[in-house]
Amino acid sequence: MSSYLETAVEIAREAGALLMAYHKRHIGFELKGDYDLVTEADRASERLVIERLSAHYPSHSIVAEEGGGRESSSDFCWYVDPLDGTTNFAHGFPMFNVTIGLAEKGELVAGVTFDPLRDELFTAERGGGAYLNGERIRVSNAARLEDSLVATGFPSRKRHQNINVHFYYQLAMITHGVRRGGSAALDLAYTACGRLDGFWEFGLNPWDMAAGVLLVEEAGGTCSDMTGAPAKLRGPHLLADNTAIHKAMVDIFGEIFRKEHRYPIPDIG
Ligand code: IPD
Ligand code: CA
Ligand code: CA
Repeated sequence: MSSYLETAVEIAREAGALLMAYHKRHIGFELKGDYDLVTEADRASERLVIERLSAHYPSHSIVAEEGGGRESSSDFCWYVDPLDGTTNFAHGFPMFNVTIGLAEKGELVAGVTFDPLRDELFTAERGGGAYLNGERIRVSNAARLEDSLVATGFPSRKRHQNINVHFYYQLAMITHGVRRGGSAALDLAYTACGRLDGFWEFGLNPWDMAAGVLLVEEAGGTCSDMTGAPAKLRGPHLLADNTAIHKAMVDIFGEIFRKEHRYPIPDIG
């Protein structure tokens, strides 16, 4: 394991322990936007992660969700989501994590997603494979949408403009089901270890997906946008899957973008 990943793991574990302490206290939340929650735990975790990263790598850039990062001319940039799954966290729904990704000259090179509730540590390094608690993980081998379990998410910001309900419905009709766990980083980690066969979402931020994209790729999966074009950390949408269903996912998304729905949403009557 490189020293970058070792450091990220140490910090993610420390931040995860801090999140658990807040989780046990059932803290309240504030609103950043109309439906966009933030808690004291998001801020405290971000302060911790940034403090530790800055101490180890004072010249590196850091992009963090709650705005505590800093820009520099370094080739290295850390993407930090100090608490992914804030809505879950605020309601005591047990699905949240801390996720940290590192890019060098724009290419993802290391990532860690830590779920402190289940003590599950997902790690990946470019070219070095993906791991769950030190054991190598691989994407699933489901080859048909009809045999797949997939996941998606819905943004809290600008949610009235989001068209994902169309995609949700069609995929729910075709696959075994569509999960909406409320944590994009875990959706990606679960795709990497085969618990899910695919995941997509509109409007993710780089800190939601940096570690997860590398996890999926290093586990043998494919990441792109929802049209099949290369995945971008700041792209409009993301598709991550087990590679075997990639073409079928891109094809069905193409149909939905063209409004060629296979299953009309039933009328209330
Ligand atoms: C959110 C979660 C959620 C996804 C949202 C994200 P946050 O992150 O990952 O699953 O659907 O798009 O913003 O705000 O809890 O860090
Ligand atoms: Ca997030
Ligand atoms: Ca967050």
